[in-house]
Amino acid sequence: SEKITVSNFRESKRTGRKITMLTAYDYPTAKIIDQSGIDAILVGDSLGMVVLGYEDTTRVTMEDMVHHTKAVVRGAKRAMVVADMPFLSYHMGIYESVRNAGRLVNEAGCKAIKLEGGEEVVEDIKAIIRAGIPVMGHLGYTPQSINVFGGHKAQGKTFETAKKIYRDALLLQEAGVFAIVLECVPYKLAQFITEKLEVPTIGIGSGAMCDGQVLVIHDIIGMFRDFIPRHTKRYSDVGEVLENSVKSYIKDVTEGVFPTEKNSFTVEDEVIEALEK
Ligand code: KIV
Ligand code: NA
Repeated sequence: SEKITVSNFRESKRTGRKITMLTAYDYPTAKIIDQSGIDAILVGDSLGMVVLGYEDTTRVTMEDMVHHTKAVVRGAKRAMVVADMPFLSYHMGIYESVRNAGRLVNEAGCKAIKLEGGEEVVEDIKAIIRAGIPVMGHLGYTPQSINVFGGHKAQGKTFETAKKIYRDALLLQEAGVFAIVLECVPYKLAQFITEKLEVPTIGIGSGAMCDGQVLVIHDIIGMFRDFIPRHTKRYSDVGEVLENSVKSYIKDVTEGVFPTEKNSFTVEDEVIEALEK
């Protein structure tokens, strides 16, 4: 089957076919998600929490993103791989922004990048697109600013903040982004923005009217158990499967049930006998 590109995102906005996106951070997970028929795989900087064990995304580095994006790219044959630009990789001047976006494409092999923010990053976005790298925007709750927001809070509940998000969405569209993630935006505001925009919106915690949806893979399979975000849906409990598997292994080894002959290699008796002498 054909590789998914930015053209498919444009086409989805026209036809109304919902865009599906999930995160992945490693080869085996990316491969399963890709083979399941997803449109896009996001190497999110949520990596910091669900894989690396940090309390938020502000500790994630370019090296982390390049390393994990490489693994995901090897597993994704059809889905479009989008990599997050981590904290401070695009606030140190346009030169640094283009260089870091370029590393994710050139060194790690993704097809597009995502970065957080509106008006304040528009010039960076334009320069990255000029360099030939498609950009996905990210508005509403932007996790890299958790310390400015003072916690994880829905954004756009007042007229002023709603207007800012709408205005930012228009600015990002004008700058040339191919899609915009709307995170934890009231669903009626997300619907309003989705109807006004010509580029697709990808919602997370922003209602069903967005042009597509994205979630963190560890949340939907029950692999991240520190907390369960309100916006997610759990489809399975892989964490429990893992826990039970580990307990069974420990029990088998302790009781001498594993390994069996089937798991072992043989040698002629004479070899061991010769060692005895
Ligand atoms: O890092 C991430 O996982 C994201 C999302 C939009 C889910 O940015
Ligand atoms: Na992210």
